[in-house]
Amino acid sequence: MSSFNRPPRVALVGSGYWGPNLARNFHALESLAAICDRNAQALSKLAIVYPSAKTTPDYSRILADKSLDAVVIATPAVTHYELVKQALNAGKHVFVEKPLALSRSEAEELAAQADRLNLTLMVGHILVYHPAFEALVTLVRSGELGKVRHVRSERLSLGKLRSEENVLWSFGPHDASLLAELLAGDPQEVRASGHAILQEGVEDVVTMDLRYSDDVTAHIHLSWLEPVKRHRLTVIGSEKMAVFDDTLSEGKLRLYDRGFDLSESGWELRRGEETLLPYEPGEPMTRECAHFLDCVRTGRRPRTDGWSGARVLGILEAARQNLQQSNSPLPSEGAVI
Ligand SMILES: NC(=O)c1ccc[n+]([C@@H]2O[C@H](COP(=O)([O-])OP(=O)(O)OC[C@H]3O[C@@H](n4cnc5c(N)ncnc54)[C@H](O)[C@@H]3O)[C@@H](O)[C@H]2O)c1
Repeated sequence: MSSFNRPPRVALVGSGYWGPNLARNFHALESLAAICDRNAQALSKLAIVYPSAKTTPDYSRILADKSLDAVVIATPAVTHYELVKQALNAGKHVFVEKPLALSRSEAEELAAQADRLNLTLMVGHILVYHPAFEALVTLVRSGELGKVRHVRSERLSLGKLRSEENVLWSFGPHDASLLAELLAGDPQEVRASGHAILQEGVEDVVTMDLRYSDDVTAHIHLSWLEPVKRHRLTVIGSEKMAVFDDTLSEGKLRLYDRGFDLSESGWELRRGEETLLPYEPGEPMTRECAHFLDCVRTGRRPRTDGWSGARVLGILEAARQNLQQSNSPLPSEGAVI
């Protein structure tokens, strides 16, 4: 077990679009000690904001620096596997932005490596640390909704448009991580379809259907080409329903005493109360960064460790394969070719 009588010292690697948010949070938690980006312009921008942090464009210097306990990786997904592997081999604890790697097998290799070396490996599945989602998980586990029958996750907005990855890999890790936390086990079936509207071969809109054991199903709808933002997770239970709506500024978690009850005369509609549920205050990213530092300090296993990152990748990989197949479909009967 690690023991610290001071805040762990972390190096941020990657100060592009997302990295500055992590820098702000780790700085507020008195842990930002170094910043690394191979792009001089990106590096100098953050160096001005955090003059006390060391800066370097060279990742190997971060790994060789014995005064640093951990690295926080916010580089593009395609680099994660190599950078995480090198960091663990150099004896550093690792926080890596989602997704952990590009395949489940790579992710499992990293998770096993962290376990073997007794180092913390945490994946930045930020929404798992959202206090309203945490309250939803508690609600579901309490049995208040009855048996979970169906989950729908919608992540729709305008931008950020990417060309190095499609919306499945950009947004999908969030939804897959929420399902991995809410539902036990891996899905037995994953179907996906998508549309590349703006750039050839890069899907802007993707829908996924998942089937778990025990007749539980889930549906995910992702798009970065949508005029109105909607980040909403709906859980349909056999007794009640709940909605976590992250688009709202407050009152993000609601419980609905609604559904259909089977009586002797058939299914009867029940349209009961809508109740606003409380949840703890706090920003998801602050909680996420604090959780990582706590795990580094205490040796506790992060909630989104390498193994849960691997489960998320299992879903994404299955969806990617299915997407590739469904992009070359057979013409349906009666279609005009
Ligand atoms: N949690 C979220 O909601 C969320 C949102 C956006 C992005 N992200 C994640 O953050 C990560 C970064 O995304 P982004 O949009 O900031 O990318 P970006 O391209 O804007 O920035 C990446 C930065 O990493 C630097 N870099 C790349 N390889 C490097 C290396 N070997 N050594 C040092 N620096 C290197 C680049 O120069 C660049 O400045 C991705 O994993 C992405 O999925 C998460």
